[in-house]
Amino acid sequence: MSTPHIVLGIETSCDETSVALLRDGTVLVNAIYTQAEHERYGGVVPEIASRAHIAKIDRLCLSVLSQSAIGVEDLSLIAVTDSPGLAGALLVGIGFALGIHCGFGVPIIGVNHLEGHIASVKIENEALAFPFLALVVSGGHTALYHVDDFAHYRCLGQTIDDAAGEAFDKVGKLLGLGYPAGQAIEAEAGAYDGDEIVSFPVARVSSPGFAFSFSGLKTAVKYHIERTGRAYAFKHRRMLCRSFQNAVIESLVHTTIAAARYTGLERIAVVGGVARNRALRAALAAAHGGAVFFPSPSFCTDNAAMIAKAGFEHYRKGIIRFPKMTPSPALRTATAPCVKSTPVS
Ligand code: KG4
Ligand code: ZN
Repeated sequence: MSTPHIVLGIETSCDETSVALLRDGTVLVNAIYTQAEHERYGGVVPEIASRAHIAKIDRLCLSVLSQSAIGVEDLSLIAVTDSPGLAGALLVGIGFALGIHCGFGVPIIGVNHLEGHIASVKIENEALAFPFLALVVSGGHTALYHVDDFAHYRCLGQTIDDAAGEAFDKVGKLLGLGYPAGQAIEAEAGAYDGDEIVSFPVARVSSPGFAFSFSGLKTAVKYHIERTGRAYAFKHRRMLCRSFQNAVIESLVHTTIAAARYTGLERIAVVGGVARNRALRAALAAAHGGAVFFPSPSFCTDNAAMIAKAGFEHYRKGIIRFPKMTPSPALRTATAPCVKSTPVS
């Protein structure tokens, strides 16, 4: 099987419409359109997300191809996110990718969104050797994986309720910071220069595996605001943001370091939208004796370059899965069989 030369990546699992091109594993362009349509609702509205993807995807793809002076006939592979995510939103990307596949005979591969996040760290860190521990920390997921290779993962534990990014977004809403709120909370927390801190509870979930829990923390912030009153809380918003962020970071760092010690994995990768957080980056790097790797910010939040990268690496290994039309929430693990097939053209 020849190595795919130029890969078109397509990502529409939530509220980012993204199209990317990879040439020989190097990102040529990674175009991301973040749907502002959801801001007024304080969260993603699935039907609005699907419609916004439909309105954007073809023009975004055309502009990515023309920017790079690449024609559809030059493509060697299309990699499209097919799970997990919002069903309608995923189907827009899958349908668009299948159109190119059927119309132009370009091979196609379905990519799990979480595999994409894990692959994102290899885009700029090709030297990061397997095996490594991956903390996937985003708006929809918070989980630890033992990564043996591309397509070979073992889940060591995950959140039993909210994802860390979801907690940032919910607390941001309570504090009037808009949606999504991760970046705004980081900015507020960074601007706080006082000593007073609220000790919000940090959940320690000992089973199953290396698990996380963030819904209690969000509720604690909510009760704190109710107790002190909104006006007082808003006046002390920077301090509350710092206190909340500290609690999230403490939980992520504690469990990740425990998993690294238990598995003996020396290299840690942190991926997903929350991996943009500089305080988290600094805390993990300080707590871990070995190397910690992070993607650049534009490869942390949802993007098609990471999907193209995962598709490219899977294709090279002969692990070719036709896109599924039935979104599932899970990431295939080493114990589950990987489907091997040849692309339908
Ligand atoms: O990976 P992503 O784009 O989407 C999912 O796959 O869920 O992650 C989005 C999440 C949002 O919850 C957002 O608030 C959070 O990442 N986020 C951050 C930061 N930037 C984005 N959280 C904390 N600090 C940040 N700087
Ligand atoms: Zn994501």
